[in-house]
Amino acid sequence: MSNNLLANKRGIIFGALDEQSIAWHVAEKCVSQGARIVLTNAPVALRMGKIQELSSRLNAPLIGADATSLEDLENLLSQSMEILGGKLDFILHSIGMSLNVRKGKTYTDLNYEFLQKTYDISAISFHKLMQSALKMDAMEEWGSILALTYIAAQRVFPDYNDMADAKALLESIGRSFGYHFGTQKKVRVNTISQSPTMTTAGSGVKGFSEFFGYADKMSPLGNAPAENCANYCVAMFSDLTRMVTMQNLYHDGGFSAMGMNPAILNLNQ
Ligand code: NAI
Repeated sequence: MSNNLLANKRGIIFGALDEQSIAWHVAEKCVSQGARIVLTNAPVALRMGKIQELSSRLNAPLIGADATSLEDLENLLSQSMEILGGKLDFILHSIGMSLNVRKGKTYTDLNYEFLQKTYDISAISFHKLMQSALKMDAMEEWGSILALTYIAAQRVFPDYNDMADAKALLESIGRSFGYHFGTQKKVRVNTISQSPTMTTAGSGVKGFSEFFGYADKMSPLGNAPAENCANYCVAMFSDLTRMVTMQNLYHDGGFSAMGMNPAILNLNQ
């Protein structure tokens, strides 16, 4: 159902890789709510081809950008403003990657070059994006910027590895930049802490499917699906949430507030 919550709004969506990606759902929902968007992903992801299909279906131009490259980000921001015909109302950062996770390095045996890459791709890219957008005056007043994160930033989930530290940095960057963007341009910056979700990035984590089931049982509402996360993003991009900024917002079916759920232990209630 569309309420046209994003009518006349322009935005950029990072990180749609395939139909499982959270950003894929966000792109679909934003367009169905009346927004016009540009899709972007790393050049290597563009070559895989699936995002092209989304781009043509949503009539959303596709611009390649490595989120760690300032040059690519500046090109993306200026081209998007040109194509969409004005400054941006919203941006979704939906990017995460750890070579330590990919190559099976454990948290007590990290490769530090990989660690730098994890931070650069998964967290510092958020700073680079916002610094570029601020310098280029690319955001409309009362615009909204979101990044997706995970509760491993606050609690220990051993197999989440160096991504936990990257998420802590990402959330801190959201808060710190939120101050500057809010004061200077009345732009809000938030992070959404999402339930485990079956995607390429998610299922790269060791033991992910068992953990997915655990989180589902622990959460009174169950795990939040990607489609619901997309609805939450739409709400955060809309004018209905103008005064919410510098927050880490849990979208997790209640998981973050639980200590113990009898369902996990198969106890009768
Ligand atoms: P995904 O694998 O579909 O998306 C990750 C995206 O990051 C991909 O599109 C990939 O191409 C992009 N990316 C990687 N390196 C890049 C670079 N250098 N420049 C530009 N883009 C780059 O997986 P998912 O799960 O949709 O991930 C999206 C976000 O949601 C990530 O920040 C992830 O950490 C977060 N998240 C995921 C959860 C899950 O369980 N799947 C739970 C909570 C948060």
